[in-house]
Amino acid sequence: MADRFKDKVVVVTGAGTGIGAATARRFAAEGAAVVCADINEAAAQAICAEISAAGGRAAPCCVDIRTPAEVDAMIALTRSRFGPLNAIINNAGMGAQKDFLDTPLDMLRAMLEINVIGTFLCAQAAAREMAANGGGAIVNFSSHSGFLGSSGRAAYAAAKSGIIGMTRVMAVDLAKHNVRVNAIAPGPIDVPRSRKQHVGERREAWQLAVPMGRYGQPDEVAGVALFLASDDASYVNGQTISVDGGFTAAGLRVKDLRVL
Ligand SMILES: NC(=O)c1ccc[n+]([C@@H]2O[C@H](COP(=O)([O-])OP(=O)(O)OC[C@H]3O[C@@H](n4cnc5c(N)ncnc54)[C@H](O)[C@@H]3O)[C@@H](O)[C@H]2O)c1
Repeated sequence: MADRFKDKVVVVTGAGTGIGAATARRFAAEGAAVVCADINEAAAQAICAEISAAGGRAAPCCVDIRTPAEVDAMIALTRSRFGPLNAIINNAGMGAQKDFLDTPLDMLRAMLEINVIGTFLCAQAAAREMAANGGGAIVNFSSHSGFLGSSGRAAYAAAKSGIIGMTRVMAVDLAKHNVRVNAIAPGPIDVPRSRKQHVGERREAWQLAVPMGRYGQPDEVAGVALFLASDDASYVNGQTISVDGGFTAAGLRVKDLRVL
């Protein structure tokens, strides 16, 4: 086991599956004590059991990140199980697509509630703890939809763009407390959910749109989360890093440059 995060205490939200599970595994493999937080208690427990079986340290926490008292309890549980918090990965989030004219207000509210309010609450509770203990690192989760106007994503884009703006302000306000704040904007990632939802034409469209021609693996996002939380990123602050195989960098793409 590498020891980049030896003696560090990390919370990963949405750790029950997908990118969050991969991130929790990687932190544990690099020596961190990890609180695997998820609204799905059984999934959080399963990842912790897996980490423990591999010789790592992990504790499950059932939390709804939209609820302030539950978020405070998550930070308190972290302190009592492992000690002062060093990093939080605000990975829990949710997406939805509907044409703008058909997007109900409830969908917009749900997207803002989980992605913006949930991230805000977790970051604020974690930052209070970190500021009192000399510093730390926060990694939020945006999306390519925070940068680009893909179809049917008015509600999701509002939330994920909000996270980019919020990340910048958190970074500015928390710098004096030695707390760094950055975000990750994943492209299409091969998680159990996208494997089910992205089929047929939708999957083909993604593969054509990504210059690297493939979905990313959860571990490829986890690696960037670990970098941003590590001392290697000690002067990186307020940034949103795309992890998307070049998707947001690409404009018009043709096979033959002579047609341009
Ligand atoms: N997978 C992708 O292609 C992709 C692309 C762009 C952005 N993202 C973002 O990356 C992050 C992780 O994506 P993923 O695909 O691994 O997600 P996922 O949907 O596979 O898993 C999300 C996890 O969060 C948990 N969760 C949901 N609501 C919660 C709540 N209220 N409180 C606590 N936990 C809750 C779920 O139980 C689940 O375990 C999300 O913020 C997502 O928006 C993912």
